[in-house]
Amino acid sequence: MEKGKQLYEGKAKKVYETNDPNLYIVSYKDDATAFNGEKKGTIADKGVVNNIMSNLVFALLAESGVPTHLVRQLSDRDTLVKAVTILPLEVIIRNTAAGSFSKRYGVEEGTPLARPALEFSYKKDELGDPLINDDHILALELATEDDLARVKQYAHKVNEVMKAFFLDKGLKLIDFKIEFGKTPDGEIILADEVSPDTCRLWDVKTNEKMDKDRFRRDLGNVEETYQAVLKRVRA
Ligand code: TMP
Repeated sequence: MEKGKQLYEGKAKKVYETNDPNLYIVSYKDDATAFNGEKKGTIADKGVVNNIMSNLVFALLAESGVPTHLVRQLSDRDTLVKAVTILPLEVIIRNTAAGSFSKRYGVEEGTPLARPALEFSYKKDELGDPLINDDHILALELATEDDLARVKQYAHKVNEVMKAFFLDKGLKLIDFKIEFGKTPDGEIILADEVSPDTCRLWDVKTNEKMDKDRFRRDLGNVEETYQAVLKRVRA
């Protein structure tokens, strides 16, 4: 399958048309940004790690009943996916307080939450992806009530499957962000990626941060950590 016209370039990936209107090719870059693009850098071979890891997790999720956009990996950085229209929502689930949740609610990072907390951000760079609630989503017609129910059901399932998967690899799933898309026939499927860019993963024994916070917070060993996570999830 060959890349056609480039449809889109995001912060971490490019999306291309193919000769089949129902299929796109996503191509993972090494570019890294944080704080809505204010901080910019490169993480060598991040694109390779994120592509391979995301496909591995998506395959597992598909087996567990969560439909995904994954068709097949084409190369280290390129994957063939189902063409979808992305819902303009970042779907975040938190198991442990960290990041913006800790800051917003004054809860120390690492504090376990009594139950997984789902939150939505409105994907709009010019507004800095603001927090948004169900009523706002429906009022703005960003998704239908049925779509929203489906998204929440899948997101909690993704959490359960990934928590167990990562724990088996010695990684604690603190929180993560996923995105969903709609196929031309109206099916909601998991799209975008699951990677150290989009999950917080802490070593079970040492609580060492093994994710993009190493880049965001200048903690060092960024490339090595991405490689270490890939090695663990492939084991
Ligand atoms: P937060 O605590 O900064 O809101 O991040 C929550 C989760 O979402 C964390 O696992 C990192 C991920 N995330 C993204 O994937 N993209 C983003 O742009 C941001 C801000 C967070």
